[in-house]
Amino acid sequence: MIHSKLIELEKSFSPSTLTQLFDPLLEQKKLKLWIKRDDLIHPIISGNKWRKLKYILDHALQLKAHTIISMGGAYSNHLHALAFVGKQLNLKTVGYIRGEQPQNFSPTLLDVQKWGMELRFISRADYRDLRNYKLFDQLPDIQQGEYWLPEGGATKLALQGVSEIISEIDIDFDVLCVPCGTGTTLAGLVDENTSDYRVDGFLALKGGSFLTQDVKALFGEKENNWSILLDYHFGGFAKSNQQLFSFIKNFSMLYAIELEQVYTGKMLYGLFDLIRQDYFEPEQKIIAIHTGGLQGVRQ
Ligand SMILES: Cc1ncc(COP(=O)(O)O)c(C=O)c1O
Repeated sequence: MIHSKLIELEKSFSPSTLTQLFDPLLEQKKLKLWIKRDDLIHPIISGNKWRKLKYILDHALQLKAHTIISMGGAYSNHLHALAFVGKQLNLKTVGYIRGEQPQNFSPTLLDVQKWGMELRFISRADYRDLRNYKLFDQLPDIQQGEYWLPEGGATKLALQGVSEIISEIDIDFDVLCVPCGTGTTLAGLVDENTSDYRVDGFLALKGGSFLTQDVKALFGEKENNWSILLDYHFGGFAKSNQQLFSFIKNFSMLYAIELEQVYTGKMLYGLFDLIRQDYFEPEQKIIAIHTGGLQGVRQ
C-alpha cells in the first residue's frame, strides 16, 4: 500500500488525457497520432517527473527518511520537481548542482531554493563521480535518514510509476514514442510480457549508444520491442537550432501544445521526420508521451 501522504498528494493531480493530432501528412501516410498529455497532470510536477518519483518517494517515506539528496544541472526538471514535492511532503531536499555557483541563479534554481532545497555546487569532475552511486544508501558518508537519488531519478523504482502510463491508455496502439535522457522513462514503458506494441525513444543527447546498455541493465536483456533513435539530438544535450525552434513554434500554432527544445521538441521533430521517411507502417497507431519539462526553458 502506497504511503498515505502520497495518496493525499496525488489528489491534486489531473488525469493525463490523449489529444489526437489531425494533419494532412498523417492522413497521407494513413497513420493515427495522439499526444499523451502528461504535461498537464500538475502545474509543477509535470510530465515524467511524478511518474518517476512516485514509488521512489514511497520507498523513502517507508524507510522514514527525512532528507532526499539528488543531483542535476542548473535547469534540471528533476530537481525542480523533487524540491517542490519535498516541500509538500515535509522532506528536506539537497541538490548537488553541476558547476560553479553562478552569480545569477536560473529560474529553476530560484524556485528550488524557494522550496527549501539546499544547494551544493560541485565541479564537473565531482559531478561525474556522483553518477557511480546508483543505490539509495550508496552515497559515501550518507547519514541515517538520508536517501540518495541518482541523476534524473534513474532507479528501478521509477519504472513502476512510469508503467502506470500504459494502464491509463484505453485505446489500441502500436507504437509509443518518448524522449530519452537516462532511458528510465523508456524502460518503464516497455512491457516485458508483450510485443503488442513497440517503444521508440528519441535520445536528447549526442553519442548515447551506451544508453542501450543502461536500459538493458534496468530490465534485462530479453526485450526487443523497443529501440533508441540516436539521430535527433541537434548537436547534443540542450543544444538546438533555428530549425528546431521553428518546428516548435509551428507545432504550438497548429495544435496549441507547447513543447520545449531539450526533450519533447526533439522527439516530435524526429517523429514527424520519420513519418515522412515511411518509418512507420500504414494504419499504425502512435502515441507520443509529452514528458513536460516546460519549466526548464525559462531564462
Ligand atoms: C521533460 C523531460 N522529458 C524526458 C526526460 C528523459 O527522461 P529519462 O531520463 O527517464 O530518459 C527528462 C529527464 O528526466 C525530462 O525532464
